[in-house]
Amino acid sequence: MAGQTESKTEKLLSILKLQPVVPVLIVDDVKSAVGLARALVAGGLRAIEITMRTPAALDAVKAVAAEVEGANVGAGTILNARDFDAAVRAGSTFIVSPGVTPGIAAAADASDVPLLPGAATASEVMALREAGYSVMKFFPAEQAGGAPYLKALSSPLAGTLFCPTGGVSLKNANDYLSLPNVVCVGGSWVAPKELVAAGDWAGITKLASEAAALKA
Ligand code: 3PG
Repeated sequence: MAGQTESKTEKLLSILKLQPVVPVLIVDDVKSAVGLARALVAGGLRAIEITMRTPAALDAVKAVAAEVEGANVGAGTILNARDFDAAVRAGSTFIVSPGVTPGIAAAADASDVPLLPGAATASEVMALREAGYSVMKFFPAEQAGGAPYLKALSSPLAGTLFCPTGGVSLKNANDYLSLPNVVCVGGSWVAPKELVAAGDWAGITKLASEAAALKA
């Protein structure tokens, strides 16, 4: 893989540095996407990841990209090149994948939209480094060993920045955010299913504000 260029890395970092927490969304009903994204932006979370895990996901990206001022909408759970390209066409400003395949790497090379690729081991990080990636998603963060594991990677793999995701919550987010190799964390806790289903946007904005106040 030719890899991520410096300008794409800068683009990605400028998005990830907007806030300490990137909300990871599973959107079941496209009608809720705009309200949900507006509630998150109102709470201070402007970079939003919509996972491609539901039939509504692509339309949700389109709607948020078109209608939510101040939002930077990205697509997550990208598992192949076809989904990568569809997510970019829908208006994603960044792409997130739980791991990397040759197909995803090729799609990323051919696109101006930056990729945040998943990695969980030293070898995966090193392979991505060889391909020019210096910013990665550490996934699944808690299950793979949590903040102590990521801390142990920071010295031998210095120069790599991570967005830990998977089991991260308000309780443990600071364990990650206080590490030198963490740029932000990702998590679904800021958009609980029940609040989304109830259209409780004030409740979501409150959770987003708490998350936005965490130390980046
Ligand atoms: C992801 O796709 O990054 C994770 O599924 C989000 O994990 P969480 O639901 O444990 O926050």
